[in-house]
Amino acid sequence: MEWLEEKKRRRQIDNSAQNADEAYFGYERIRAEAKTDRVMQHFNSVARHYDFMNTLLSFGIHYAWKRTAVRMLKLAPGDRILDVCGGTGDLAILAARTVGAAGRVIIYDINRAMIQAGMHKVVDTDLANRLGHIQGNAEFISFPDGHFDTAMVGFGIRNVTHMEKGFEEMYRVLKPGGKLMCLEFSKPTWPVFRWLYDFYSFYIMPFLGQLIAGNKKAYTHLPESIRMFPLPDELADVLKKIGFSQVTYRSLTNGIAVIHLAIK
Ligand SMILES: C[S@@+](CC[C@H](N)C(=O)[O-])C[C@H]1O[C@@H](n2cnc3c(N)ncnc32)[C@H](O)[C@@H]1O
Repeated sequence: MEWLEEKKRRRQIDNSAQNADEAYFGYERIRAEAKTDRVMQHFNSVARHYDFMNTLLSFGIHYAWKRTAVRMLKLAPGDRILDVCGGTGDLAILAARTVGAAGRVIIYDINRAMIQAGMHKVVDTDLANRLGHIQGNAEFISFPDGHFDTAMVGFGIRNVTHMEKGFEEMYRVLKPGGKLMCLEFSKPTWPVFRWLYDFYSFYIMPFLGQLIAGNKKAYTHLPESIRMFPLPDELADVLKKIGFSQVTYRSLTNGIAVIHLAIK
């Protein structure tokens, strides 16, 4: 139930920035080149149950976090939005509702099974014309420079082998003045609450993962990867270093999740 100490976390951030040979998959130290495959296997194994397990394990709170995050972006009708690591598309769907018929939202995700698991939420709806799906790696976004008004990434950047490369790519494809939103898990601030959260994460979640999705391993990896991720101030520094300005963040539910906003 260990939250990574600052020194190790900084090393992990530096590794990710320098395209180092080493990466972490949860608490496990692996070769960087192996991480994408491991992440792929992980999401292949959870895709079918992903939305249901998310709602169950978060008691549905993830929907409120996602609504808040999209509201904070103040999207305008006609905007072009990129949802990086978009998965089953919750953020993209919320954005598509806001940008209207003239807007366009792309769900960009490396995992086909995750994209397919969310398709049923948009086919045969009026959102289908505004939403596109592209399978690709966040480290190499297949769009030209300055194409999007907004790039967002929800609970995904943790899985990208070289996190900075992912953010650099989001920066590149944004128009000048374009907005970035990153919604990610973080460390609860109140110690008693954190203890309860840790207990829930390392005992209840893997148990439910095994019981319902038949997959204890995936739901052990999830809390581990959260504890390896930069804290809000550290992530804000990463974004500033890439070139983003006006970097701000807002903590949700005692810091379990955090929304970062930034401008290109
Ligand atoms: C935890 S899910 C989040 C899905 C969705 N954004 C949400 O909030 O529910 C993380 C997603 O990131 C995707 N992903 C992981 N590494 C990626 C990469 N390098 N490039 C693009 N997508 C990636 C996974 O396939 C998965 O669908």
